[in-house]
Amino acid sequence: MVEGFAQSRDQWLPVCSLPRLTEAGIVAVRVAGVDLALISEGGRVMACERACPHEQADLACGRLLHGRIACPRHEASFSLDDGTISDGWPSRPLRFYPVRVERGEVFINAASLILKREN
Ligand code: FES
Repeated sequence: MVEGFAQSRDQWLPVCSLPRLTEAGIVAVRVAGVDLALISEGGRVMACERACPHEQADLACGRLLHGRIACPRHEASFSLDDGTISDGWPSRPLRFYPVRVERGEVFINAASLILKREN
């Protein structure tokens, strides 16, 4: 169990099974009214905003390429380490959200999504 997880369990919502995400690579989910893309790549699991920050294309329809997610509209890509977009594209970095994996399930921290909606 991840340290601190039990105390804050009520904020963590199960959103996808780990085997499903591992097989698909990218899975679209909606949590607390917020659209996200879950990503499994290189042994990592993460969640980012589903709408591309460049022109809002659906990143859940994108492709994973060696530590990056490529947008299906313009083929710019975002680093899965820090969210930065590939050179030459005018866009803020991709936003990521806290994820935990326990007992074969992927959990999203709902509190982090509420903060997003207030921004
Ligand atoms: S809409 Fe995603 S790179 Fe342009």
